[in-house]
Amino acid sequence: MNSENGVPFVDLLTPHKEMEEELVGVVRNVLKTGMFAGGPVVESFEKDFAQFCGTEHCIAVSNGTDALRFALIAAGVEPGDCVVTVSNTFVATVEAILQAGAHPQFVDIDLRTFNMSATALREFLESECERCERTGLPLHRTTRRRVSTVLPVHLYGQVCDMDAIRSVADQYGLNILEDACQAHGAEYFSTRDGAWQRAGSIGKAGAFSFYPTKNLGACGEAGAVTTNDDELAAKLRMIRNHGQGMKYHHLIEGYNGRMDAFQAGMLQIKLRRLEDWNAKRRSVAANYNRLLEGCDWLQPRMSRHGAAPFITCMSFRFRVAVNCSRF
Ligand SMILES: Cc1ncc(COP(=O)(O)O)c(C=O)c1O
Repeated sequence: MNSENGVPFVDLLTPHKEMEEELVGVVRNVLKTGMFAGGPVVESFEKDFAQFCGTEHCIAVSNGTDALRFALIAAGVEPGDCVVTVSNTFVATVEAILQAGAHPQFVDIDLRTFNMSATALREFLESECERCERTGLPLHRTTRRRVSTVLPVHLYGQVCDMDAIRSVADQYGLNILEDACQAHGAEYFSTRDGAWQRAGSIGKAGAFSFYPTKNLGACGEAGAVTTNDDELAAKLRMIRNHGQGMKYHHLIEGYNGRMDAFQAGMLQIKLRRLEDWNAKRRSVAANYNRLLEGCDWLQPRMSRHGAAPFITCMSFRFRVAVNCSRF
């Protein structure tokens, strides 16, 4: 859907107009500190976002693709490894896997949620892989690639069925990295843990994008990795900063992947409104669902509590996501 139909896909003007003074205040403040890449404003946002997601750490980076790539590298994905994901995602999920030197292996989605099917994941591991005698990890039978990681994508703000995916991953010794680039604040009730969990807090790490059109969007490019793993967090901090453990001590090969302070300050302002924005999106989505009920060429995507700002229309020919971003 686009503005020609009367409904813009995303309205980036109205919310920024409402927050203009606060956002300009961030620019003034950062100009006074002179700390533009990293620094106290970035650290303060990291603290807030980690708390929001319910994780010990947030490592602010330059964009969501880097968040995914750095998470894969830090979690020990090795060149030639096979990373299991879905094709029903944005292309960046696959770019990140390839840029980490690994190979994407696609499994099917659950047609009720359009997210990774834990059954398809299990079927792939059972029917196409065998256990490596040395490591115990699955080996893809035809390519002989080591399967080390599963990368579920929480699409349209809806968390995948993580209890089921975790149980398969545990059985096969796989790391789980969450692509939470479209799921800021989405929640999942884990029967296994008896608790609500936020996207980005369930796997070994979660990767977020703050591209401007996201529910939590920067005024430019930005991303983050969340994790409860201290060692992984320390490695991620090095990877995003040219592999530096401390100034000019480059301990590993890294990247220039830091978040800039202007983005961090603006994200911090917006983060305070995120729960309210998500609630409004859900209410708009509920309205669409109600109004479209009974329409025989549409299948609303099943959604769990805490999910999403999107509804999905489906016919036998096409499937599109409609962003309910007007609020
Ligand atoms: C599911 C998914 N993964 C990864 C990304 C990449 O994020 P970025 O554009 O910030 O690099 C996006 C961004 O649209 C996304 O939707």
